[in-house]
Order: sequence, then C-alpha cells, then structure tokens
Amino acid sequence: MSLPLSPAPFPLARPRRLRAAPWVRSLVAETALTPADLIWPLIVHDGAEARVPVPSMPGVFRLSPSEAARAAVQARDLGIPLVALFPNVDAATKDAVGTGATDPDGLIPDCIKAIKDAAPEIGVMCDVALDCYTDHGHDGVVENGRILNDASLERLAEQAFIQAHAGADVVAPSDMMDGRVQAIREALEANGFHDTLILSYAAKYASAFYGPYRDAVGSAAMLSGDKQTYQMSFANSDEALREVAMDIAEGADAVMVKPGMPYLDIVRRVSETFRVPTFAYQVSGEYAMIQAAVANGWLDRDRAMIETLTAFKRAGCAGVLTYFAPEAAKLLGR
Ligand code: PBG
Repeated sequence: MSLPLSPAPFPLARPRRLRAAPWVRSLVAETALTPADLIWPLIVHDGAEARVPVPSMPGVFRLSPSEAARAAVQARDLGIPLVALFPNVDAATKDAVGTGATDPDGLIPDCIKAIKDAAPEIGVMCDVALDCYTDHGHDGVVENGRILNDASLERLAEQAFIQAHAGADVVAPSDMMDGRVQAIREALEANGFHDTLILSYAAKYASAFYGPYRDAVGSAAMLSGDKQTYQMSFANSDEALREVAMDIAEGADAVMVKPGMPYLDIVRRVSETFRVPTFAYQVSGEYAMIQAAVANGWLDRDRAMIETLTAFKRAGCAGVLTYFAPEAAKLLGR
C-alpha cells in the first residue's frame, strides 16, 4: 500500500494547519504514550542496605526486597502495570552453574513474595538467565570456555519454574540459548503453570549498551570474554525475524527487541510481520546516555524521556521497559 505524500498541492494542502495549535496537534496525534505502556526494571540486592545508588545510572538504586515492594506500590499508584526484577547477589555465592538461580528461597522469590504482599494488583516479571549468578558472568553453563546450549536449557527451565512457583506472572528469558522458550514452556505446563506468560527476549543483540546494567547487577567484573556466540550481531535484521518466529512457535506469548533506540527498525519489522505483542527495552546504556547529557545541561530530561518513549510506541511497541518508568508515569499522569 502506498500513501500519497500530500493529498493535494500547495496551497490547497498546508500541512502546518494540522500543527497550528495544541488542540489540533493532540486531536491528530497518531500515537499516545500512557503509564500503561511502561514496564519498570528494578535492580534488587541481597545486601544489608535498603537502597544503594548505581553510579553509572543516576536515579537508579539497588533495592532490598522491602524497598522493591515499596517501589511496586509506587508503580501501581502511578498506573504502571508491570515491574521486572534483576538480581544483584553476593559475589561469594556465585558459581559455575549459577546455583543461586534455582534457589527457591533466594533473592528473587523473596522479592516476588514481598511485592505480591504489598501490591497484589501489579504484575511481576523475572529475568530468566544465569549471568547474575555465575562466577563467569555468562547466561548459560560454561565448559572449557564454551557456553553449552542444551545443558543450559535444563537450568533455565528450572529457574523459570522456581520463579513461577514463587508467584511470577511473566518469565522473560534473556539468555538467547536455542530452544529455551520450548524448554521453559514444557516445564511450566508440566507443573500446572498454564497461565504464566513468557515474554521472550527474542531479538537480543550483543551490545555495548548493557555496560551500566552489568555494573548494577555485578556481572561486569565476572564476565570472561563476550556474549557474541549467543547474542545477535548488530549487523543483522532478517535473523531477528527467524529468532522471533522460533520463539512464537515454541510458546512465547510476547516478544522483545533489545536494545531499544538503535533497533527501532527491528521493532517495526517484528511488529508488522508477526502481529504479536512486541516490546522493546530502553537499556541501561541508553538511560545512562540521556542522564549524562542531562547532568551536563545538554538535554532536557523530561522532553528527551517522553520523545524517546513515544518513538517506541510509534515504531510498533505494545510497551517499553525503561528505567524512566516512574518519572515518565508521573509526567504523563499530570
Ligand atoms: C542478561 C541481561 C542483560 C540485560 C538484562 N538481562 C545484559 C546482558 O546480556 O549482559 C541488560 C539490561 C540493561 O542493559 O538495561 N541476562
């Protein structure tokens, strides 16, 4: 389908007529951003302090389980439907297979329960990947320097089961192993978790923009090598469609593209091709870039925040994971 660039020649058509005043601009807006479009990633930790600032992510704190519950109450009151949990655990507890990832009494189950007690109305999403729990910082099981695919699937499926059992509403595999969605879906079905959503990080790229997050969860210092044998190359686009197709066929309810802003072309292709709920993650490095420019007085935070988040919606996203979620929701609620 091709659209005429202009329905008529100038001066019959004057596009500025539709921009002349706030009332007409809002009347013809093609895209609306609301708090209901936002997913708020929360970094949680097992340390003694209630809140510890993350230096490379101004405004972001590592939270204790009870602080995470307070954040969830705030999210609910702001109209944010879902929070996503990412763990920073004591480095001394990390090992080669990420034992902590499948501890039913671990940090994530604690946080899910604290949140569900405080704000039962809000959805809770959990990251399925081993990197926050391994002493090599990889998302799967490593043997002789290789990240093993099939051996990782068992660990990931068990991790997702533990999360669902603790009360998670959404499990979100971010590990990029082949076949993980199927392994997780089978484990959930076999254990009676028929209603647990899988939001798969289907097109996740090996990216420089995860740097601040790896500091926040404490995996940067651990990571040996890089993640290019499992995360996608930023040169590729068709490959993203194959990844998404596989994840949907394996039982994903919704898919994600990550990072966000440099990958809106992928969001557009995925959302138009598959017509499933498509999300994007405005990742830590994107947040850090904006906040660094704001701190220097080079960008207006509120305007940059709303413009970037609206761009995700315009590209075809059902919603966006963003560290700006509470601040954006406050602005939008006004
Ligand atoms: C890893 C994971 C990563 C992020 C979420 N889950 C980073 C990585 O793959 O190393 C990044 C989030 C962000 O940068 O905000 N399972």
